[in-house]
Amino acid sequence: MQHLVVFLTFFALFAVAAAIVSIPSKIYGVNLGSWLVLEAWMLPQEWLDMGGQSCSSCADCIADEWSFAKAYPDTVDAIFDKHWSTWFTEDHIQQLKADGINTVRIPLGYWIVEPLVNRASEYYPRGGIKQLQRGLQQLQDAGIVAILDHHALPGVQTANQQFTGHCTSDVEFYTPYNYHRALVWTAVMTTLAHLDPAFGNVFAIEAVNEPIMDAAQTPGYGQFQINFVQTVRAAELILGIPVPGVSLPFSLDTSNTTAAFMKVAAANTTSLPSIFNQNVTAALAEAGPILSQVAAELASPPILDFTSTQAPVFSSKTPLWTNFMDMNWQYDNPPNPANAAIGTQGYDNHLYYVYGGVADSNPDAYLASICNLQRVQSDAAVGNSPLWFGEWGLPTQFDATDEFLYMWADAQKMAYMRGAGWIFWNFNVEKSTLAGNLSREWSYLDGVNYGFLTKDPAAYHNASVCDPYY
Ligand SMILES: *[C@@H]1O[C@H](CO)[C@@H](O)[C@H](O)[C@H]1NC(C)=O
Ligand SMILES: *[C@@H]1O[C@H](CO)[C@@H](O)[C@H](O)[C@H]1NC(C)=O
Ligand SMILES: *[C@@H]1O[C@H](CO)[C@@H](O)[C@H](O)[C@H]1NC(C)=O
Ligand SMILES: *[C@@H]1O[C@H](CO)[C@@H](O)[C@H](O)[C@H]1NC(C)=O
Ligand SMILES: *[C@@H]1O[C@H](CO)[C@@H](O)[C@H](O)[C@H]1NC(C)=O
Repeated sequence: MQHLVVFLTFFALFAVAAAIVSIPSKIYGVNLGSWLVLEAWMLPQEWLDMGGQSCSSCADCIADEWSFAKAYPDTVDAIFDKHWSTWFTEDHIQQLKADGINTVRIPLGYWIVEPLVNRASEYYPRGGIKQLQRGLQQLQDAGIVAILDHHALPGVQTANQQFTGHCTSDVEFYTPYNYHRALVWTAVMTTLAHLDPAFGNVFAIEAVNEPIMDAAQTPGYGQFQINFVQTVRAAELILGIPVPGVSLPFSLDTSNTTAAFMKVAAANTTSLPSIFNQNVTAALAEAGPILSQVAAELASPPILDFTSTQAPVFSSKTPLWTNFMDMNWQYDNPPNPANAAIGTQGYDNHLYYVYGGVADSNPDAYLASICNLQRVQSDAAVGNSPLWFGEWGLPTQFDATDEFLYMWADAQKMAYMRGAGWIFWNFNVEKSTLAGNLSREWSYLDGVNYGFLTKDPAAYHNASVCDPYY
Protein backbone atom coordinates (compact mmCIF):
# COMPACT_ATOMS: atom_id res chain seq x y z
CA MET A 1 0.00 0.00 0.00
CA GLN A 2 2.72 2.43 0.98
CA HIS A 3 4.59 1.42 -2.12
CA LEU A 4 1.51 2.16 -4.17
CA VAL A 5 1.15 5.63 -2.64
CA VAL A 6 4.82 6.37 -3.22
CA PHE A 7 4.54 5.07 -6.72
CA LEU A 8 1.43 7.12 -7.50
CA THR A 9 2.96 10.26 -6.02
CA PHE A 10 6.08 9.76 -8.05
CA PHE A 11 4.05 9.11 -11.16
CA ALA A 12 1.90 12.21 -10.67
CA LEU A 13 4.95 14.43 -10.16
CA PHE A 14 6.64 12.92 -13.14
CA ALA A 15 3.56 13.36 -15.34
CA VAL A 16 3.24 17.02 -14.39
CA ALA A 17 6.95 17.69 -14.81
CA ALA A 18 6.97 16.10 -18.23
CA ALA A 19 3.98 17.97 -19.58
CA ILE A 20 4.65 21.55 -18.57
CA VAL A 21 6.19 23.44 -21.44
CA SER A 22 7.09 27.07 -21.64
CA ILE A 23 9.04 29.39 -23.88
CA PRO A 24 12.71 29.60 -22.83
CA SER A 25 13.67 33.01 -21.37
CA LYS A 26 16.10 33.24 -24.33
CA ILE A 27 15.70 31.06 -27.40
CA TYR A 28 18.86 29.28 -28.54
CA GLY A 29 17.45 27.32 -31.42
CA VAL A 30 17.95 25.50 -34.68
CA ASN A 31 15.63 24.75 -37.57
CA LEU A 32 14.96 21.14 -38.49
CA GLY A 33 15.05 22.12 -42.17
CA SER A 34 14.88 19.57 -44.99
CA TRP A 35 13.42 16.99 -42.62
CA LEU A 36 9.64 17.02 -43.16
CA VAL A 37 9.85 19.67 -45.92
CA LEU A 38 12.76 18.65 -48.13
CA GLU A 39 14.90 21.24 -49.96
CA ALA A 40 17.13 19.38 -52.38
CA TRP A 41 19.91 22.01 -52.35
CA MET A 42 20.70 21.03 -48.76
CA LEU A 43 21.30 17.36 -49.62
CA PRO A 44 22.42 17.28 -53.27
CA GLN A 45 23.87 13.76 -53.26
CA GLU A 46 21.11 12.10 -51.24
CA TRP A 47 18.51 13.73 -53.51
CA LEU A 48 20.11 12.21 -56.63
CA ASP A 49 20.39 8.86 -54.85
CA MET A 50 16.69 9.02 -53.97
CA GLY A 51 15.85 9.53 -57.65
CA GLY A 52 15.63 13.32 -57.73
CA GLN A 53 17.22 15.63 -60.30
CA SER A 54 19.14 18.88 -60.34
CA CYS A 55 18.49 21.77 -62.74
CA SER A 56 19.16 25.50 -62.77
CA SER A 57 15.47 26.43 -62.41
CA CYS A 58 13.81 24.16 -59.84
CA ALA A 59 10.47 24.19 -61.70
CA ASP A 60 12.05 22.42 -64.70
CA CYS A 61 12.91 18.99 -63.29
CA ILE A 62 12.33 16.67 -60.32
CA ALA A 63 13.65 19.19 -57.80
CA ASP A 64 10.90 19.34 -55.15
CA GLU A 65 8.65 17.03 -53.12
CA TRP A 66 5.69 17.52 -55.47
CA SER A 67 7.56 16.55 -58.65
CA PHE A 68 9.16 13.63 -56.87
CA ALA A 69 5.84 12.26 -55.58
CA LYS A 70 4.30 12.71 -59.02
CA ALA A 71 7.17 10.86 -60.72
CA TYR A 72 7.34 7.99 -58.21
CA PRO A 73 3.78 7.40 -56.95
CA ASP A 74 4.43 3.82 -55.85
CA THR A 75 7.71 4.29 -53.99
CA VAL A 76 7.62 7.89 -52.76
CA ASP A 77 6.35 7.04 -49.26
CA ALA A 78 9.03 4.44 -48.57
CA ILE A 79 11.82 6.58 -50.03
CA PHE A 80 10.79 9.59 -47.95
CA ASP A 81 10.38 7.49 -44.82
CA LYS A 82 14.01 6.48 -45.16
CA HIS A 83 14.99 10.14 -45.54
CA TRP A 84 12.92 11.18 -42.48
CA SER A 85 14.45 8.38 -40.39
CA THR A 86 18.06 9.22 -41.27
CA TRP A 87 18.12 13.02 -41.75
CA PHE A 88 17.11 13.74 -38.16
CA THR A 89 18.00 11.20 -35.47
CA GLU A 90 18.49 10.68 -31.75
CA ASP A 91 22.21 11.19 -32.33
CA HIS A 92 21.54 14.70 -33.68
CA ILE A 93 19.34 15.48 -30.68
CA GLN A 94 22.07 14.44 -28.26
CA GLN A 95 24.60 16.65 -30.10
CA LEU A 96 22.18 19.61 -30.07
CA LYS A 97 21.52 19.10 -26.39
CA ALA A 98 25.25 18.99 -25.67
CA ASP A 99 25.56 22.26 -27.62
CA GLY A 100 23.00 23.94 -25.35
CA ILE A 101 20.17 24.16 -27.89
CA ASN A 102 16.82 24.63 -26.09
CA THR A 103 14.39 25.12 -29.01
CA VAL A 104 13.69 23.72 -32.46
CA ARG A 105 11.56 25.22 -35.21
CA ILE A 106 10.07 22.43 -37.28
CA PRO A 107 9.15 23.33 -40.88
CA LEU A 108 6.00 21.43 -41.91
CA GLY A 109 3.93 21.14 -45.06
CA TYR A 110 0.15 21.25 -45.17
CA TRP A 111 0.38 17.71 -46.54
CA ILE A 112 1.44 16.32 -43.16
CA VAL A 113 -2.33 16.50 -42.41
CA GLU A 114 -2.96 13.96 -45.15
CA PRO A 115 -6.74 14.36 -45.63
CA LEU A 116 -6.09 17.99 -46.72
CA VAL A 117 -4.36 16.86 -49.92
CA ASN A 118 -6.41 16.59 -53.12
CA ARG A 119 -4.75 13.45 -54.37
CA ALA A 120 -6.10 13.85 -57.93
CA SER A 121 -4.15 17.05 -58.49
CA GLU A 122 -1.63 17.36 -55.64
CA TYR A 123 1.36 15.11 -55.00
CA TYR A 124 3.06 14.60 -51.65
CA PRO A 125 4.44 11.70 -49.59
CA ARG A 126 2.38 10.16 -46.79
CA GLY A 127 3.55 9.16 -43.33
CA GLY A 128 5.39 12.30 -42.21
CA ILE A 129 3.08 12.80 -39.23
CA LYS A 130 4.35 9.62 -37.58
CA GLN A 131 7.91 10.88 -37.97
CA LEU A 132 6.89 14.21 -36.44
CA GLN A 133 5.45 12.35 -33.45
CA ARG A 134 8.66 10.30 -33.17
CA GLY A 135 10.93 13.36 -33.32
CA LEU A 136 8.87 15.41 -30.86
CA GLN A 137 8.95 12.60 -28.30
CA GLN A 138 12.74 12.32 -28.60
CA LEU A 139 13.14 16.10 -28.32
CA GLN A 140 10.81 16.19 -25.33
CA ASP A 141 12.88 13.49 -23.63
CA ALA A 142 15.93 15.70 -24.21
CA GLY A 143 14.19 18.76 -22.72
CA ILE A 144 14.04 20.69 -26.03
CA VAL A 145 10.85 22.65 -26.85
CA ALA A 146 9.36 23.07 -30.32
CA ILE A 147 7.63 25.52 -32.64
CA LEU A 148 5.42 23.92 -35.31
CA ASP A 149 6.03 26.07 -38.37
CA HIS A 150 3.51 25.98 -41.24
CA HIS A 151 6.31 26.35 -43.72
CA ALA A 152 4.72 25.12 -46.95
CA LEU A 153 1.12 26.29 -47.32
CA PRO A 154 -1.73 24.77 -49.35
CA GLY A 155 -1.71 26.29 -52.81
CA VAL A 156 1.93 27.53 -52.42
CA GLN A 157 2.66 30.86 -50.67
CA THR A 158 5.76 32.02 -52.59
CA ALA A 159 6.81 31.45 -56.21
CA ASN A 160 9.63 29.17 -57.34
CA GLN A 161 10.92 27.99 -53.98
CA GLN A 162 11.71 24.42 -52.93
CA PHE A 163 10.72 25.31 -49.37
CA THR A 164 7.04 25.51 -50.41
CA GLY A 165 7.16 21.86 -51.48
CA HIS A 166 6.24 22.84 -55.03
CA CYS A 167 8.52 25.00 -57.10
CA THR A 168 6.05 26.87 -59.33
CA SER A 169 5.06 30.37 -60.39
CA ASP A 170 1.40 29.44 -59.77
CA VAL A 171 0.82 30.92 -56.28
CA GLU A 172 -2.68 30.07 -54.98
CA PHE A 173 -2.41 30.30 -51.21
CA TYR A 174 -4.07 33.73 -50.94
CA THR A 175 -7.54 32.44 -51.82
CA PRO A 176 -10.55 31.48 -49.64
CA TYR A 177 -10.18 27.76 -50.40
CA ASN A 178 -6.55 27.57 -49.35
CA TYR A 179 -6.96 29.89 -46.37
CA HIS A 180 -9.66 27.46 -45.25
CA ARG A 181 -7.34 24.47 -45.61
CA ALA A 182 -4.64 26.29 -43.62
CA LEU A 183 -7.17 26.90 -40.81
CA VAL A 184 -8.10 23.22 -40.75
CA TRP A 185 -4.38 22.41 -40.45
CA THR A 186 -4.17 24.92 -37.61
CA ALA A 187 -7.09 23.37 -35.70
CA VAL A 188 -5.59 19.89 -36.11
CA MET A 189 -2.10 20.94 -34.96
CA THR A 190 -3.46 22.91 -32.00
CA THR A 191 -5.37 19.84 -30.89
CA LEU A 192 -2.43 17.48 -31.34
CA ALA A 193 -0.22 19.86 -29.33
CA HIS A 194 -2.63 19.63 -26.39
CA LEU A 195 -3.73 15.99 -26.64
CA ASP A 196 -0.96 13.79 -28.04
CA PRO A 197 1.58 13.05 -25.28
CA ALA A 198 4.47 13.22 -27.78
CA PHE A 199 3.50 16.82 -28.66
CA GLY A 200 3.78 17.99 -25.04
CA ASN A 201 6.90 20.08 -25.78
CA VAL A 202 5.20 22.20 -28.49
CA PHE A 203 4.82 25.78 -27.23
CA ALA A 204 3.99 27.67 -30.44
CA ILE A 205 2.42 27.34 -33.87
CA GLU A 206 3.60 29.63 -36.66
CA ALA A 207 0.87 30.60 -39.12
CA VAL A 208 2.71 31.19 -42.40
CA ASN A 209 6.41 30.97 -43.23
CA GLU A 210 7.65 33.73 -45.52
CA PRO A 211 4.56 35.05 -47.29
CA ILE A 212 5.15 37.23 -50.36
CA MET A 213 6.80 40.46 -49.15
CA ASP A 214 4.63 42.74 -51.29
CA ALA A 215 1.36 42.90 -49.33
CA ALA A 216 -0.48 43.99 -52.49
CA GLN A 217 0.01 40.40 -53.66
CA THR A 218 -1.37 38.77 -50.49
CA PRO A 219 -5.07 39.75 -50.48
CA GLY A 220 -6.99 38.52 -47.45
CA TYR A 221 -3.84 37.79 -45.41
CA GLY A 222 -4.90 40.20 -42.64
CA GLN A 223 -8.25 38.44 -42.18
CA PHE A 224 -6.40 35.13 -42.27
CA GLN A 225 -4.18 36.29 -39.40
CA ILE A 226 -7.29 37.03 -37.33
CA ASN A 227 -8.87 33.71 -38.29
CA PHE A 228 -5.66 31.84 -37.45
CA VAL A 229 -5.56 33.14 -33.87
CA GLN A 230 -9.30 32.64 -33.41
CA THR A 231 -9.01 29.05 -34.66
CA VAL A 232 -6.23 28.27 -32.18
CA ARG A 233 -8.19 29.83 -29.31
CA ALA A 234 -11.52 28.26 -30.35
CA ALA A 235 -9.95 24.80 -30.40
CA GLU A 236 -8.31 25.48 -27.04
CA LEU A 237 -11.62 26.61 -25.52
CA ILE A 238 -13.23 23.35 -26.64
CA LEU A 239 -10.36 21.40 -25.05
CA GLY A 240 -10.93 23.17 -21.72
CA ILE A 241 -8.23 25.84 -21.89
CA PRO A 242 -9.54 29.21 -20.70
CA VAL A 243 -9.60 32.04 -23.23
CA PRO A 244 -9.93 35.45 -21.51
CA GLY A 245 -13.39 36.93 -21.93
CA VAL A 246 -14.73 34.03 -23.99
CA SER A 247 -16.85 31.04 -22.95
CA LEU A 248 -19.05 28.48 -24.63
CA PRO A 249 -22.76 29.23 -24.16
CA PHE A 250 -23.61 25.54 -23.66
CA SER A 251 -22.12 22.40 -22.16
CA LEU A 252 -20.32 20.04 -24.53
CA ASP A 253 -21.69 16.90 -22.78
CA THR A 254 -18.99 14.75 -24.35
CA SER A 255 -15.30 13.97 -23.99
CA ASN A 256 -15.14 12.81 -27.63
CA THR A 257 -12.90 15.34 -29.40
CA THR A 258 -14.44 14.84 -32.83
CA ALA A 259 -17.98 15.08 -31.48
CA ALA A 260 -17.12 18.24 -29.51
CA PHE A 261 -15.68 19.98 -32.57
CA MET A 262 -18.73 18.98 -34.63
CA LYS A 263 -21.17 20.12 -31.95
CA VAL A 264 -19.62 23.58 -31.69
CA ALA A 265 -19.32 23.88 -35.45
CA ALA A 266 -23.00 23.01 -35.87
CA ALA A 267 -24.20 25.51 -33.27
CA ASN A 268 -26.00 28.71 -34.24
CA THR A 269 -23.08 31.09 -34.81
CA THR A 270 -25.06 34.11 -33.62
CA SER A 271 -25.27 32.44 -30.20
CA LEU A 272 -21.51 31.74 -30.08
CA PRO A 273 -18.78 34.19 -29.03
CA SER A 274 -17.43 36.23 -31.94
CA ILE A 275 -14.17 34.27 -32.24
CA PHE A 276 -16.36 31.52 -33.70
CA ASN A 277 -16.84 33.33 -37.00
CA GLN A 278 -17.99 31.25 -39.95
CA ASN A 279 -14.45 30.74 -41.26
CA VAL A 280 -13.44 29.36 -37.85
CA THR A 281 -16.47 27.08 -37.47
CA ALA A 282 -15.95 25.78 -41.03
CA ALA A 283 -12.39 24.84 -40.05
CA LEU A 284 -13.52 23.16 -36.81
CA ALA A 285 -16.19 21.18 -38.67
CA GLU A 286 -13.61 19.75 -41.06
CA ALA A 287 -10.93 19.25 -38.40
CA GLY A 288 -13.23 17.11 -36.20
CA PRO A 289 -13.37 14.00 -38.41
CA ILE A 290 -9.75 14.50 -39.55
CA LEU A 291 -8.66 14.25 -35.90
CA SER A 292 -10.20 10.77 -35.69
CA GLN A 293 -8.19 9.71 -38.74
CA VAL A 294 -4.98 11.25 -37.39
CA ALA A 295 -5.53 9.59 -33.99
CA ALA A 296 -5.70 6.23 -35.76
CA GLU A 297 -2.60 6.95 -37.84
CA LEU A 298 -0.69 8.04 -34.73
CA ALA A 299 -2.11 5.19 -32.61
CA SER A 300 -2.84 7.82 -29.94
CA PRO A 301 -6.10 7.34 -27.99
CA PRO A 302 -5.77 10.62 -26.03
CA ILE A 303 -6.48 12.52 -29.27
CA LEU A 304 -9.95 10.93 -29.30
CA ASP A 305 -10.75 11.85 -25.68
CA PHE A 306 -9.84 15.35 -24.61
CA THR A 307 -10.32 14.49 -20.93
CA SER A 308 -7.64 11.77 -21.04
CA THR A 309 -5.19 11.90 -18.15
CA GLN A 310 -2.41 11.12 -20.67
CA ALA A 311 -3.04 14.30 -22.68
CA PRO A 312 -0.65 17.21 -22.02
CA VAL A 313 -3.72 19.45 -21.45
CA PHE A 314 -4.67 17.35 -18.43
CA SER A 315 -1.59 18.63 -16.55
CA SER A 316 -1.24 22.06 -18.12
CA LYS A 317 -3.92 24.42 -19.37
CA THR A 318 -1.27 26.77 -20.78
CA PRO A 319 -2.37 28.18 -24.15
CA LEU A 320 -0.03 27.94 -27.14
CA TRP A 321 1.84 30.95 -28.44
CA THR A 322 0.53 32.06 -31.79
CA ASN A 323 3.40 33.09 -34.06
CA PHE A 324 3.63 35.15 -37.24
CA MET A 325 6.32 36.59 -39.46
CA ASP A 326 6.59 40.18 -38.25
CA MET A 327 4.65 43.03 -39.89
CA ASN A 328 7.93 44.45 -41.27
CA TRP A 329 8.51 41.26 -43.25
CA GLN A 330 6.05 42.80 -45.72
CA TYR A 331 5.82 46.24 -47.37
CA ASP A 332 3.10 48.02 -49.31
CA ASN A 333 0.61 48.60 -46.49
CA PRO A 334 0.84 45.19 -44.79
CA PRO A 335 -1.59 43.97 -42.13
CA ASN A 336 -0.26 44.01 -38.56
CA PRO A 337 -0.43 40.57 -36.92
CA ALA A 338 -0.48 42.31 -33.51
CA ASN A 339 -4.09 43.23 -34.31
CA ALA A 340 -4.96 39.52 -34.35
CA ALA A 341 -3.46 38.61 -30.96
CA ILE A 342 -5.55 36.96 -28.25
CA GLY A 343 -3.15 36.06 -25.46
CA THR A 344 0.51 35.09 -25.93
CA GLN A 345 1.89 35.81 -29.38
CA GLY A 346 5.43 35.98 -30.75
CA TYR A 347 6.95 37.38 -33.95
CA ASP A 348 9.50 35.95 -36.35
CA ASN A 349 11.97 37.68 -38.65
CA HIS A 350 14.45 36.05 -41.05
CA LEU A 351 17.75 37.59 -42.07
CA TYR A 352 20.14 36.30 -44.74
CA TYR A 353 22.87 38.65 -45.90
CA VAL A 354 23.95 36.15 -48.56
CA TYR A 355 20.88 36.82 -50.73
CA GLY A 356 21.81 40.47 -51.07
CA GLY A 357 19.98 43.72 -50.48
CA VAL A 358 21.01 44.06 -46.82
CA ALA A 359 24.58 45.40 -46.87
CA ASP A 360 27.46 45.94 -49.30
CA SER A 361 29.32 42.75 -50.05
CA ASN A 362 32.33 43.06 -47.75
CA PRO A 363 33.15 42.10 -44.14
CA ASP A 364 33.24 45.63 -42.80
CA ALA A 365 29.84 46.54 -44.26
CA TYR A 366 28.33 43.33 -42.87
CA LEU A 367 29.55 44.08 -39.35
CA ALA A 368 28.53 47.74 -39.53
CA SER A 369 25.05 46.62 -40.58
CA ILE A 370 24.47 43.81 -38.07
CA CYS A 371 25.96 45.74 -35.16
CA ASN A 372 23.44 48.53 -35.75
CA LEU A 373 20.45 46.37 -36.66
CA GLN A 374 17.20 48.15 -35.78
CA ARG A 375 14.73 45.33 -36.39
CA VAL A 376 13.90 44.61 -32.74
CA GLN A 377 13.12 48.29 -32.12
CA SER A 378 11.21 48.74 -35.41
CA ASP A 379 9.04 45.76 -34.62
CA ALA A 380 8.46 46.88 -31.04
CA ALA A 381 7.23 50.21 -32.42
CA VAL A 382 4.34 48.37 -34.15
CA GLY A 383 3.63 46.08 -31.21
CA ASN A 384 5.50 43.10 -32.66
CA SER A 385 7.20 41.93 -29.45
CA PRO A 386 8.65 39.57 -28.46
CA LEU A 387 10.59 39.07 -31.68
CA TRP A 388 12.89 36.15 -32.38
CA PHE A 389 15.05 35.60 -35.46
CA GLY A 390 13.67 32.32 -36.77
CA GLU A 391 16.13 31.95 -39.66
CA TRP A 392 19.72 33.13 -40.11
CA GLY A 393 23.06 31.58 -40.95
CA LEU A 394 26.73 32.30 -41.59
CA PRO A 395 26.73 32.46 -45.43
CA THR A 396 28.06 35.60 -47.12
CA GLN A 397 28.18 36.99 -50.66
CA PHE A 398 32.00 36.99 -50.55
CA ASP A 399 34.55 34.29 -49.67
CA ALA A 400 34.62 34.58 -45.91
CA THR A 401 37.79 33.77 -44.01
CA ASP A 402 37.61 31.66 -40.87
CA GLU A 403 38.68 34.76 -38.94
CA PHE A 404 35.66 36.66 -40.25
CA LEU A 405 33.21 33.84 -39.48
CA TYR A 406 34.10 33.96 -35.77
CA MET A 407 33.22 37.65 -35.73
CA TRP A 408 30.18 37.17 -37.98
CA ALA A 409 28.71 34.51 -35.69
CA ASP A 410 29.30 36.60 -32.56
CA ALA A 411 27.90 39.82 -34.04
CA GLN A 412 24.75 38.14 -35.38
CA LYS A 413 23.99 36.35 -32.11
CA MET A 414 24.52 39.62 -30.23
CA ALA A 415 22.03 41.43 -32.48
CA TYR A 416 19.40 38.71 -32.20
CA MET A 417 19.73 38.43 -28.44
CA ARG A 418 18.38 41.99 -28.17
CA GLY A 419 15.12 40.26 -29.03
CA ALA A 420 13.89 36.94 -27.67
CA GLY A 421 16.70 34.95 -29.26
CA TRP A 422 17.57 33.10 -32.43
CA ILE A 423 16.99 29.94 -34.44
CA PHE A 424 19.81 28.99 -36.84
CA TRP A 425 19.18 27.65 -40.35
CA ASN A 426 19.99 24.80 -40.30
CA PHE A 427 20.71 22.21 -37.61
CA ASN A 428 22.72 20.33 -40.24
CA VAL A 429 23.24 19.91 -43.97
CA GLU A 430 24.72 17.15 -46.11
CA LYS A 431 28.43 16.44 -46.08
CA SER A 432 29.50 15.00 -49.43
CA THR A 433 31.80 15.73 -52.35
CA LEU A 434 28.86 17.16 -54.26
CA ALA A 435 27.85 19.39 -51.31
CA GLY A 436 31.40 20.76 -51.05
CA ASN A 437 31.80 22.83 -47.91
CA LEU A 438 28.08 23.70 -47.63
CA SER A 439 28.12 22.72 -43.96
CA ARG A 440 30.76 25.31 -43.04
CA GLU A 441 28.24 28.16 -43.09
CA TRP A 442 24.84 26.40 -43.11
CA SER A 443 25.20 23.71 -40.43
CA TYR A 444 24.92 24.60 -36.75
CA LEU A 445 26.55 21.35 -35.67
CA ASP A 446 29.51 21.92 -37.99
CA GLY A 447 29.71 25.60 -37.07
CA VAL A 448 30.24 24.49 -33.48
CA ASN A 449 32.71 21.78 -34.56
CA TYR A 450 34.75 24.30 -36.57
CA GLY A 451 34.51 26.71 -33.64
CA PHE A 452 32.73 29.63 -35.37
CA LEU A 453 29.75 29.11 -33.07
CA THR A 454 30.63 28.89 -29.38
CA LYS A 455 29.92 25.59 -27.62
CA ASP A 456 27.84 27.54 -25.09
CA PRO A 457 25.25 29.34 -27.27
CA ALA A 458 25.04 32.23 -24.78
CA ALA A 459 28.78 32.92 -25.06
CA TYR A 460 30.84 35.01 -27.49
CA HIS A 461 34.43 34.65 -28.64
CA ASN A 462 34.73 38.39 -28.36
CA ALA A 463 31.96 40.35 -26.70
CA SER A 464 33.58 43.57 -28.01
CA VAL A 465 33.25 42.57 -31.67
CA CYS A 466 30.77 45.37 -32.35
CA ASP A 467 32.50 48.12 -30.38
CA PRO A 468 34.20 49.71 -33.42
CA TYR A 469 30.84 49.97 -35.23
CA TYR A 470 28.63 51.67 -32.65
C1 LIG B 1 -14.92 33.28 -44.82
O1 LIG B 1 -16.19 32.72 -45.06
C2 LIG B 1 -16.94 33.41 -46.04
C3 LIG B 1 -18.31 32.77 -46.08
O2 LIG B 1 -18.21 31.39 -46.22
C4 LIG B 1 -16.25 33.31 -47.36
O3 LIG B 1 -16.98 34.02 -48.36
C5 LIG B 1 -14.89 33.92 -47.21
O4 LIG B 1 -14.22 33.79 -48.41
C6 LIG B 1 -14.15 33.26 -46.09
N1 LIG B 1 -12.91 33.96 -45.92
C7 LIG B 1 -11.78 33.34 -45.73
C8 LIG B 1 -10.60 34.23 -45.52
O5 LIG B 1 -11.67 32.13 -45.71
C1 LIG C 1 -16.76 10.28 -31.47
O1 LIG C 1 -17.67 11.06 -32.20
C2 LIG C 1 -17.69 10.80 -33.58
C3 LIG C 1 -18.60 11.83 -34.19
O2 LIG C 1 -19.84 11.84 -33.58
C4 LIG C 1 -18.13 9.39 -33.80
O3 LIG C 1 -18.13 9.10 -35.18
C5 LIG C 1 -17.18 8.44 -33.09
O4 LIG C 1 -17.61 7.11 -33.21
C6 LIG C 1 -17.07 8.80 -31.63
N1 LIG C 1 -16.00 8.02 -31.04
C7 LIG C 1 -16.17 7.32 -29.94
C8 LIG C 1 -14.95 6.60 -29.44
O5 LIG C 1 -17.22 7.29 -29.35
C1 LIG D 1 -29.73 31.90 -33.96
O1 LIG D 1 -29.68 32.64 -32.76
C2 LIG D 1 -30.29 33.92 -32.87
C3 LIG D 1 -30.01 34.69 -31.58
O2 LIG D 1 -30.10 33.85 -30.46
C4 LIG D 1 -31.78 33.71 -33.16
O3 LIG D 1 -32.39 34.97 -33.31
C5 LIG D 1 -31.92 32.93 -34.46
O4 LIG D 1 -33.28 32.62 -34.69
C6 LIG D 1 -31.16 31.62 -34.38
N1 LIG D 1 -31.17 30.95 -35.69
C7 LIG D 1 -31.47 29.68 -35.82
C8 LIG D 1 -31.41 29.14 -37.21
O5 LIG D 1 -31.74 28.97 -34.88
C1 LIG E 1 35.68 23.45 -44.91
O1 LIG E 1 35.83 24.56 -44.06
C2 LIG E 1 36.68 24.33 -42.94
C3 LIG E 1 36.63 25.56 -42.07
O2 LIG E 1 36.98 26.70 -42.80
C4 LIG E 1 38.06 23.97 -43.41
O3 LIG E 1 38.86 23.69 -42.28
C5 LIG E 1 37.99 22.77 -44.31
O4 LIG E 1 39.25 22.49 -44.85
C6 LIG E 1 37.01 22.99 -45.44
N1 LIG E 1 36.81 21.74 -46.15
C7 LIG E 1 36.78 21.68 -47.47
C8 LIG E 1 36.52 20.33 -48.06
O5 LIG E 1 36.95 22.66 -48.19
C1 LIG F 1 37.67 42.01 -29.84
O1 LIG F 1 37.17 42.88 -30.84
C2 LIG F 1 37.61 44.20 -30.70
C3 LIG F 1 36.90 45.02 -31.79
O2 LIG F 1 37.22 44.55 -33.05
C4 LIG F 1 39.13 44.28 -30.82
O3 LIG F 1 39.56 45.60 -30.64
C5 LIG F 1 39.75 43.36 -29.80
O4 LIG F 1 41.15 43.31 -30.01
C6 LIG F 1 39.18 41.98 -29.90
N1 LIG F 1 39.65 41.17 -28.82
C7 LIG F 1 40.29 40.03 -29.00
C8 LIG F 1 40.70 39.30 -27.77
O5 LIG F 1 40.51 39.59 -30.12
